Order: sequence, then structure tokens, then C-alpha cells
Amino acid sequence: MSVIAKVTSSGPQAPLSQLLLAPLGLDIWEVKADHLVLQATEAQAERLEHMGYSIEQLHETESYLSAFATDDAVTGYHSAASLEADLRRLATDNPEIAELHEIGRSVENRPIWALRLGQRRGSTLKMAFLGCHHAREWISVEVPYLLAEYLVTHAATDPVQHWFQEGEIWVAPMVNPDGHEYTRTHNRLWRKNRRRNPDGSMGVDPNRNYGYMWGTLDVSTSSHVPRDDTYVGPRAFSEPEVQAVRNLVARELFAGVLTYHSYSQLILFPWGYTSKPIADPDHHEMQDLANDMQRIIRGVHGETYTVEQSSQLYPTAGDTTDWTYGEYGIPSFTIELRPQTQAEGGFILPSSQIQPTWEENRPAALRFISHIFDKPADA
Ligand code: ARG
Ligand code: ZN
Repeated sequence: MSVIAKVTSSGPQAPLSQLLLAPLGLDIWEVKADHLVLQATEAQAERLEHMGYSIEQLHETESYLSAFATDDAVTGYHSAASLEADLRRLATDNPEIAELHEIGRSVENRPIWALRLGQRRGSTLKMAFLGCHHAREWISVEVPYLLAEYLVTHAATDPVQHWFQEGEIWVAPMVNPDGHEYTRTHNRLWRKNRRRNPDGSMGVDPNRNYGYMWGTLDVSTSSHVPRDDTYVGPRAFSEPEVQAVRNLVARELFAGVLTYHSYSQLILFPWGYTSKPIADPDHHEMQDLANDMQRIIRGVHGETYTVEQSSQLYPTAGDTTDWTYGEYGIPSFTIELRPQTQAEGGFILPSSQIQPTWEENRPAALRFISHIFDKPADA
């Protein structure tokens, strides 16, 4: 039996920050100044109470799922199969600017797709937009997919026309198709890939498996225990889904990377593995750009996306942007999409929210592209 619970501190002897620094194997969903929301077994919840935290049970996971993970809540979101069909259609209908690439195969041998957009190959200006490292974060498929569709349908007008003459934009909306399929068929709250671990448990967290400072932390949000939701895997790049992204990045050498997740409405930049900031001038560049994106997003529907260094949310080693920035110096962001809180749906975002989420993220993504593509040549 597992529960979804809100955890608050009962006093200075049990600060929330300490919970994040202990290897308790918790599936932490939400981190706010005064509380956490997490999924825990009843035994884990009891342990937290003994440690002096206050636990408020929000739901039993089972009844939560029967109330919210309904057939209705599936409509409007892609499956791996419908995504493939839509990406294929974009490529087939627009052969001069769009090309579909299989960048690798998952543990269960599903293709991982990336759409290459732009007029020519071999340009030096390239960016990548990624989605769905985590299976249950369905909105993170839709935003990069809609970005690809938008760019294709606006290819004949500036600024997209100009960008497509200058460079390439690669969009891979579903890095973890096995996990995503599993959330459709078995468990809506599954997070990891579908690797069978030696201890019989399933799954490695793809967003802990990248090879920069991999495995250097041992905390709930970056775990060495295979059954945990943030299991880092047996070694860096052990997972084929992560190898697919690694090989793409190593080959294309992007000048910017944005990876979408949900939820919490955040704009995160490296580092995740340490509280130490990245060095200037990169720190300034990324922070300014994140602040621009925040302002742009707020201007659309008034939603706030909080800007912070990844590790301020919680510490992780081996996430995507630590590697793309740490290994290649690529300006890299993680955007946590809608909603802001569990009370607004958490991972189970009503499909009526896809469109407004996209509407506010579109100009932010375009701003990032413009920052990379429209830079003066000597800057
Ligand atoms: N929520 C995402 C994850 O758990 C993003 C992590 C970004 N890095 C971090 N240190 N918070 O993978
Ligand atoms: Zn995620």
C-alpha cells in the first residue's frame, strides 16, 4: 500500500532540508518552502513520523488513481504509437525541412524518435528540445511535439524561415517510450525506464544516468538502490535511452538544449550535483535567459515559473543538463511544466491544460532559439 502525503517539519530538530539529504528512497513530487509532497509506502510514512516530521495523507494511491487516472484523462495525449505517426506525417509532408531519425532503441526495443528540422544538414548552429525522460510526465511529450509542429507550419515566414536557413532544430519528444507505455497500460505513476534490475526490481531513472558526476550523490532524489524511483543505474550511460541522447548530442554538438519535465513550473539551470554555481559568464547568460523566459511565460496566461539552480530544488547527480553543460558547455535548461502543485493535478494534468501550457511555453522556446541563432557572429 502506498500513499500520497504532504510532509511538513514539526520543528528545528527535523528540517525539511535534512529529509532531502537522507537516502530514504522516497519518491519526492513537490518541494516547496514549507512542505514536500511525496509518494511513500505506509512503512516509509511511519518512519518519517518517527523522525519527527508531520505527515498529512492526501490520498491512498489506489483510490487517487481510480479517481484521476480515468479513460477520459488519457484523451488528448500522445502514445508512443500516435507520436510516431504524427512525427512521420510531419516529415513526410515537409521533406525539404523535416527528417525523422531513429536515434536509438529502448530496453524493450521501441524506437526513440527525433525530428530534424532545417533546410540543410551540416550546419554548425543546432539546438535540441527533449521530452519525457520520465514516463508519467505526459505534458513533457506534448510541448516539444507542438513546438516541432509549430516550426514546420511556420517554416515559410520569419523568424523560423531564417532559422531554418541558418541551422537545425532537433526535437525528441519521448526519450522513454517504454516507461510512457507502461503508464498507459499498468501504472500511471511510473517514472523510470523498464530495465530489469539484478535484484528483480524494475527501472533506472534516465535523468540520473548521464555521465557527468554520475553516482556522486546518495540521497532520496538520486539513489543507488535499484527499486527506488531515482535509481542512478549500475554505471553512467548504462541505459539505451540515455545512450541514444548521448550519441545524438555527441554527434550534433548542440549550441542549446532544453529538456521538458513536469510538474512544478520551474526553469532550472546547472548545476544539479552541487550547490556551487556554474562559472561566469555562463552563469549570467543562463540566469538572464531563464529570467527572460520566466517573464515571457508570465506574459501569456499570468503563470509563474520559478527560476533557480537545479540543486536548489533538490540535489541530483547524472541529470541531462549537468552532462550537456558539464561535458560540452552547452547552455542547457530543464523546464518543469504545469501544474504548480499536486492540488492542481500533479502528474495527471487534465488535457484541457495542454493548449495553455503550450501557449505560454511557445514564446519562451522561441526566445531560447533566438538567443542561440540570432547572436551576433562576433559575440
Ligand atoms: N525533476 C527532475 C528530476 O527529478 C529535474 C531534476 C533537475 N535537477 C535537479 N538537481 N533538481 O529529474
Ligand atoms: Zn521529470
